Amino acid sequence: MPQCELVVVERQEPKPEHVELLLDAPALAADLAPGQFAHVWTPGSLRRPISFSRATPDGRVGLLFRVVGAGTRWLADRRVGDRLDVLAPLGQGFPAPEPGPLLLVGGGVGIPPLFVAAQRWAATHPLSVILGARTAEAVVMVDDFQTLGLAPSLTTDDGSLGEPGRVTGPLARWLARHDGGQVWACGPTPMLGAVAELVGEGRPCWLAYEQRMGCGVGACLACVVPGVGADGQPEWVRVCHDGPVFDSRRLWWAGRQGEG
Ligand SMILES: Cc1cc2nc3c(=O)[nH]c(=O)nc-3n(C[C@H](O)[C@H](O)[C@H](O)COP(=O)(O)OP(=O)(O)OC[C@H]3O[C@@H](n4cnc5c(N)ncnc54)[C@H](O)[C@@H]3O)c2cc1C
Ligand code: FES
Repeated sequence: MPQCELVVVERQEPKPEHVELLLDAPALAADLAPGQFAHVWTPGSLRRPISFSRATPDGRVGLLFRVVGAGTRWLADRRVGDRLDVLAPLGQGFPAPEPGPLLLVGGGVGIPPLFVAAQRWAATHPLSVILGARTAEAVVMVDDFQTLGLAPSLTTDDGSLGEPGRVTGPLARWLARHDGGQVWACGPTPMLGAVAELVGEGRPCWLAYEQRMGCGVGACLACVVPGVGADGQPEWVRVCHDGPVFDSRRLWWAGRQGEG
């Protein structure tokens, strides 16, 4: 897997405790699939997985993250001109969407990879966007979606921005308004389970899953979660290599609740 050193060319703090680093990486920017991630070296034993948050026409890619521990604190302290040691691009991203309406549902730091999807598909697909988080301070990239001409529906658990409550409220309304269409989601695992359950198996639903990682390239099995094989039998899937984006029917907990 390509290991490279990428130079930080811009640094922003879009929200408190949230940092976006823009890296000079023309080859990555040209080929990135939404949902793919970088495994970034930080001091200590393990790299940290961060999804790409944007790919710009002038050859930059973004990493937008929330500071939650030592690794992301170290990353947040990087400045323009610093170099990051990354393995990228890693993982399976979202597939090319089928024709027809596409709904993007992002929760918290699950929002950034969906912006790459919006950049890629806003011109060719009728796109709707739902963004949610616990509080207004964790809802990121709203203005970025707006620059693409999109008007995201916003929800916060505490009602500090948009509709009070979870993303499942506007999701249920969107599903009721659309007979077909497809749903892509990224966010905390309970949110993904709720999205999979609401969408059901009648339309395509792809979920970007987050899991603690070791190697990031499929070798150590640190990131396995229960999945479903082609024969319908349980099997372990590696989030880093088989995902992080999965057809919701491939995840055991999603779409199979109530069984076993
Ligand atoms: C494929 C993938 C893409 C990701 N993309 C992003 C992104 O775009 N932006 C972003 O902010 N974060 C993202 N994450 C999560 C990010 O990797 C973790 O927040 C980061 O590794 C934490 O490192 P740390 O050293 O700062 O914190 P640690 O000290 O390692 O952990 C601090 C806290 O965060 C929790 N945590 C750590 N890693 C994860 C994880 N993978 N999933 C859930 N909880 C975790 C720990 O349980 C602990 O409570 C992604 C994770 C994966 C697997
Ligand atoms: S992190 Fe090593 S197999 Fe996924």
